[in-house]
Amino acid sequence: MEIRRSTRNDLAAMNEIYAFARRFMAAHGNPNQWGPTGWPPEALLRQDIAAGNSYVCVEDGRVVGTFFFRQGADAEPTYRDITDGSWLDESPYGVLHRVASDGTVKGVGRFCMDWAYARCGHLRADTHGDNLVMQSLLQKCGFVRCGIVHVAEDSYPRLAYEKVREHKTILRCPVCGGALDFRGKAMRCPAGHAFDLAREGYVNLLRSTRSGDRMGDSKESARSRRDFLSKGYYRPLRDALCDIFAGQRGTVLDICCGEGYYTAALGENPALRVYGFDLSKEMIRLAARRGGATYFVANLAAIPVADGSVDAATQIFAPFHEPEFARVLRSGGRLYSVTPGSRHLWALKERLYDAPYPNDEALPAVKLLRCVGRRKISAVITLESPEDIETVFRMTPYYYHTSQRDRDKLNALASLRTEIEFIIAEYEKP
Ligand SMILES: C[S@@+](CC[C@H](N)C(=O)[O-])C[C@H]1O[C@@H](n2cnc3c(N)ncnc32)[C@H](O)[C@@H]1O
Ligand SMILES: [Zn+2]
Repeated sequence: MEIRRSTRNDLAAMNEIYAFARRFMAAHGNPNQWGPTGWPPEALLRQDIAAGNSYVCVEDGRVVGTFFFRQGADAEPTYRDITDGSWLDESPYGVLHRVASDGTVKGVGRFCMDWAYARCGHLRADTHGDNLVMQSLLQKCGFVRCGIVHVAEDSYPRLAYEKVREHKTILRCPVCGGALDFRGKAMRCPAGHAFDLAREGYVNLLRSTRSGDRMGDSKESARSRRDFLSKGYYRPLRDALCDIFAGQRGTVLDICCGEGYYTAALGENPALRVYGFDLSKEMIRLAARRGGATYFVANLAAIPVADGSVDAATQIFAPFHEPEFARVLRSGGRLYSVTPGSRHLWALKERLYDAPYPNDEALPAVKLLRCVGRRKISAVITLESPEDIETVFRMTPYYYHTSQRDRDKLNALASLRTEIEFIIAEYEKP
């Protein structure tokens, strides 16, 4: 069996599965959960598909199950209110809804739940008091009953279930070095130091009293970076990184992850448990909204992560701090370091300077790590607006060394076709 995102072509199969599920429920003592409302309506399924939250379970090319899955902080707003109990863990979670199978293959429900759990390590779901089949499945899959919630579609109370992480986090208390774990709305170490989870679901582990708000990038530059990357201009790099990790498992740390464009994409791989941090709270706030990883605010010079706890790290256009990278990687662990290639944004430089020079592709000298490989990713893109040209220019180190007279040369451009080029250097911790 495999899981993939649903498309509109799956709608007929999904509708059939839900019709089967309503009949099955009615025949097994649960006529009120989906029957009276004909739940879920096709308009809702279309909406889920468009938002990328609808999935199908496929066996031998045939759709045999379907469900809704979304993850992040506040993934299901109706779960904010819970009565007769409380949630176990307030950290970002995945929510499952509308899990149903066509009844032809055994184990579809469990397969879907395990798949979702592997992606986020923290799931919530609800079901009707009469749905004994689903209650038993949730319990078998390791969910705990937490209280009562109410859902949007009708006024019947629902039983709330949650499955929390079995694993310990790799995070360490920045005050005493003790292991940090999610408890309630905070992360806590055994000595009692607590770090509140922000509304977006990230945690600030900077020891400094100076707020991350004022350190690193401003809100405006974080947003313009997010908007620029979201347009997909650097997608070739993102895809190359995802390909590198395609067959890998384990814990990945994205060092100086910025607003999480690459981090969240790595987090799509269910075999990876991804962490990302940055000095800038503004960046991490945006990253947490992208989801896919556990995000925290921290300084590269003192990463609050246990020694040897990381299977692989990525460091993309960020400062290189070998002692900390070597410390957090396990023996045999890999660091993928991304820097601009010699011809990165060449056409932009040609517009700016009379005699542009190519970027230096020399890698930093290393003592604790060993360089084991290096690949180049090249593509040609067209920057579609003056705003995008300005943003990409601001993202380069030479923006700040360019005179206003030279900067003005870009103002006349409505669009710009240019090469982009990235070096991914691979290091091993011996
Ligand atoms: C050029 S951005 C790259 C961000 C992200 N990797 C990307 O490619 O979108 C560099 C990032 O490094 C972060 N940074 C700079 N110094 C840092 C430090 N000492 N500790 C943690 N992050 C730092 C900045 O806040 C910024 O988000
Ligand atoms: Zn502590």
